[in-house]
Amino acid sequence: MLLLNFFRSSIGLKIIMALTGLALFGFTVGHMVGNLQIFLPKEHINAYAAFLQSQKELLWGVRIGLLVMVVLHIWAAIKLTAMNAAARPVGYNDPGKSATKATLASRTMIVSGVIVLIFIIFHILHFTVGSVQPQFYGLHDEAGRHDVYRMVIEGFRNPFISGFYVISVVLLGFHLSHGLSSMFRSVGLTSPAWRKPQELFAAAFSGIIVVGMAIVPIAIVIRLINPTF
Ligand code: HEM
Repeated sequence: MLLLNFFRSSIGLKIIMALTGLALFGFTVGHMVGNLQIFLPKEHINAYAAFLQSQKELLWGVRIGLLVMVVLHIWAAIKLTAMNAAARPVGYNDPGKSATKATLASRTMIVSGVIVLIFIIFHILHFTVGSVQPQFYGLHDEAGRHDVYRMVIEGFRNPFISGFYVISVVLLGFHLSHGLSSMFRSVGLTSPAWRKPQELFAAAFSGIIVVGMAIVPIAIVIRLINPTF
């Protein structure tokens, strides 16, 4: 009961946001590294995907874990936003200063967060369910494995699909960058001297993720990777 009250308090909610955000961040780094196998011969990514699919318990464990993280992250975000609005209904007396800045930052987080959520739903329908471009889903390679390589290449040859991915990944980058630097503050790991270096670190780390993710659709749409099927 005491623990439940703690997690409903503003500091408890911030800790939930920080921990779930960190876990989702970790998934994103791992997923980015896995995706970069698209630059290797097709056996690599197909064997990797087949391995993941063969580990059913692990796969479903990760899926359920991710879903719980996303739900908790959004729930805590909604509760914190409501708490902030209730605590400061008319804003500070000095509207040009921190109140406006904080509101703008949290608004940006809400907008980028909602777009990233829409992207993730689209992305799962695209590559996991296969309902966006069904013509490229369910194909098999010579070894009889799901041809993830072909699905990704044929999918990203469509400039609208690639464009949507690149825009979404850039927004994800803003979300991660701001989220990571506020995480340091939420868990008390900051001081005025550390603030700037932490912001730079968050921006640089998120920038690497943006580049590592966006390079896949970009390399395909500009035909840098251009196999014939
Ligand atoms: C733009 C680069 C990206 C590429 C090329 C890519 C590629 C893929 C592929 C091929 C799959 C299906 C794997 C399979 O069928 O075995 C997948 C699943 C998934 N991706 Fe991505 N992805 C990208 C970006 C992202 C981003 C930015 C996120 C979220 C932050 C994300 C989250 C997921 C999730 C949650 C799944 C479902 C995993 C499952 O099957 O349970 N992806 N991705």
